[in-house]
Amino acid sequence: MAFTRITAAEAAALVKNGDNIAVSGFTPAGTPKAVTAEIAKIAHAEHEAGRPFKIGVFSGASTGQSCDGVLAEEHAIKYRAPYTTNPSFRKLVNKGEIPYNDIHLSMMAQELRYGFIGPVDWAIIEVCAIEPDGKVYLTAAGGIAPTAARLARKGIILELNAFHSTKSIGLHDVYEPLDPTNRKPYAIEKPSDRIGEIFLQIDPKKVVGVVECNIPDEARDFKGSDPVTDTIGANVAHFLMADVKAGRIPTSFLPLQSGVGTTANAILAALGNNPEVPDFDIYTEVLQNAIVDLMRKGRVKTASTCSLTVTNDVLQGIYDDIDLFKDRLVIRQSEISNNPEVIRRLGVIAINTAIEVDIYGHANSTQICGTKMMNGIGGSGDFERNAYLSIFTCSSVAKGGMISSIVPFCSHVDHTEHDVNVIITEQGIADLRGKSPMERAKEIIENCAHPDYKQLLWDYLKIADKGHSCHKLSAAFAMHDTFLREGDMHLTDFASYVH
Ligand code: COA
Repeated sequence: MAFTRITAAEAAALVKNGDNIAVSGFTPAGTPKAVTAEIAKIAHAEHEAGRPFKIGVFSGASTGQSCDGVLAEEHAIKYRAPYTTNPSFRKLVNKGEIPYNDIHLSMMAQELRYGFIGPVDWAIIEVCAIEPDGKVYLTAAGGIAPTAARLARKGIILELNAFHSTKSIGLHDVYEPLDPTNRKPYAIEKPSDRIGEIFLQIDPKKVVGVVECNIPDEARDFKGSDPVTDTIGANVAHFLMADVKAGRIPTSFLPLQSGVGTTANAILAALGNNPEVPDFDIYTEVLQNAIVDLMRKGRVKTASTCSLTVTNDVLQGIYDDIDLFKDRLVIRQSEISNNPEVIRRLGVIAINTAIEVDIYGHANSTQICGTKMMNGIGGSGDFERNAYLSIFTCSSVAKGGMISSIVPFCSHVDHTEHDVNVIITEQGIADLRGKSPMERAKEIIENCAHPDYKQLLWDYLKIADKGHSCHKLSAAFAMHDTFLREGDMHLTDFASYVH
């Protein structure tokens, strides 16, 4: 079957006010860019003419400026799930304009299939090659593409993006699980195991058009490492090696997952550069620049991911040296890369970055001072809850020391104390395994808090009501409250908060 070529503007014109689109990709990697940019232009024109225009946007994870960015800037998003990092979008979410459903990434595709979210009107899928029978080849990410394409009730738009080399064909392991009660176990016993196909089979009759384009991916580069992230990385390496020596981690090591962002990238680089850490495998959702470098050096043996969230020079480097990567790199759907069953079976060591942690080990990955969304939970919950070893890292202070990342009570909890084994800052390591809440509090304050805030946290424990966990509810958010009023968490004492 020959597919009709249409322009991005023609494709965008098919999407009507109130429709829901589901896009391929995971992070800006593999996300369509041409059609969503044109939808934003339509929104602009409609709003200028005084007519409403808003759509729902479903994705694997965050998208790029050409999707979340331009649509948010044109006030064209009526609903969004599951994760985004875009500053313009963040502003509108925090003003209460966009309803944002921040769910675990492993659950997005199945919640669409279960009918918990949706319906999907249009699937917009970025591909690097198309066969007449409807076999298409995804680009830099697995995301929720199979589910998006299958559920799309009005049609599928394919963005054939020449920026992505067809040399990447073979990296993907495309698999869409059956739903309960027919779901089968996932036969993944090591990160490089494959259970699907290298192509996505779509229904050719549903394709309304192919948009040809040549647009680079929009993954941004992270800030380079600094002395704080370098020290956190060194602490993580030290902790893991001590566990190997103690026999708690096999000497052959376990697959690693490392989260998203500057700290995560620096930690992986530190682990790779530490000669004591054996060569290792990766089972993750986001593969950043540091891992590609470690694969080239042979430090990372194999890697399973949902996306190649790398800068464009690094992505082209993978395509250019595809023989080096083909048998060692697998790109999966997010419900497989982040699957609890697989993560638990493989014994993945999860290392994610928190915004803040509290003295009992709860972790906040998403919201500043309880109300303002940063990005979202991403896959951190999928991995941390099911990991062999669940590690959270963060700098002990933020915003030039005005904020302590260790607080009496997290202002928002994404990961409970039951799911967190270890907290690591540049100050040190709190090993929470096997400890009661009060033992954890001592370990976290002593080892992880910044010296400027240690006494304050000890003082909080002194005024706290006694219990299994000790708290004084009227003072639990005194540090946050002081920051919101004075721009600094350094309160003199808790006296005015004790009623
Ligand atoms: N209070 C207020 N702001 C804080 C803060 C705190 N306790 N801790 C960090 N921040 C701010 C930083 O100042 C920085 O702000 P800026 O962008 O204005 O400079 C921002 O949060 C990012 O922090 P940074 O130190 O640069 O860390 P990062 O790039 O490593 O990102 C997270 C950290 C938590 C935002 C990021 O890892 C994230 O979104 N995590 C959730 C998703 C996830 O874990 N996915 C993992 C699966 S792959």
